[in-house]
Amino acid sequence: MLHENKASYRDWRAAKLARYPQRVDELQVEIGGLTSFEPGDKGRILECLGRANMAIYTCRDRSVDRAAMRAFSAHFGLLRLDHHLCANDDGVAELTVATEDRRAGYVPYSDRSLSWHTDGYYNDESRRVQAVVLHCAQVAASGGDNDILDPEIAYIKLHDADPAFITAFEHPECMTIPANVTDQGEIRPAITGPVFSYDKRNESLHMRFSARKKNIRWRDDAATTAAREYLANLLADENGPVLNYRLLPGQGLLSNNVLHNRTAFIDGPGQKRLLYRARFFDRVDSS
Ligand SMILES: [Fe+2]
Repeated sequence: MLHENKASYRDWRAAKLARYPQRVDELQVEIGGLTSFEPGDKGRILECLGRANMAIYTCRDRSVDRAAMRAFSAHFGLLRLDHHLCANDDGVAELTVATEDRRAGYVPYSDRSLSWHTDGYYNDESRRVQAVVLHCAQVAASGGDNDILDPEIAYIKLHDADPAFITAFEHPECMTIPANVTDQGEIRPAITGPVFSYDKRNESLHMRFSARKKNIRWRDDAATTAAREYLANLLADENGPVLNYRLLPGQGLLSNNVLHNRTAFIDGPGQKRLLYRARFFDRVDSS
């Protein structure tokens, strides 16, 4: 449970809701560039993280490569990269339509839509993705925008509706991702764990979630089903707290692994959507 003490939870909730942005432009920050920080850039980004666990930055200097992604992330204490299956050797992935290499079998590397999730929901507890930097180098001809929501707001809304939803989502057997088995054998075992977990050491909430219908096994009880339905309605509510944004070249989303989805997109002639993405086991401390 986030804040076992009811009074401290009440205070935290009120402060969080009061500061949460009503419009996505409240999260936008202009900076020098990924490797050319200017005075105040870091503070403005951290202020957005403090409000919503995310910031959308726009670089005046648009130059980007994988080394720049790592250098930028390091400014925020993000050092331990998740070297996952489809990342390059340095741990930074290039999200673009892939037709030939092993990325081709995965939806993020296609032009299809992605349903709501947090990154690395199939990782075990020791490899939780705490923060993500997503940087746009090239935009598609159309589509490819993201809905985004701070998991702390999802937690508050669920708790407001029924505290039993939180209990269900904190159950250690709430959500199971079956093993990833390919022609070469099992490349990841089945992973079982909670949706919400709370780390008392740094007072941070972690959310592990996927709205995929296939390849997810949910705990089969009424409270879990009701919590999932409530969350699905919250994420679909156009008048709710969900924000929407389409990253343009030179812009990026730095977040403590917030909930997000992606619409399908269409590349144009000579215009192939390309986003750099780095996932970290570290979290941005904005306190
Ligand atoms: Fe993602």
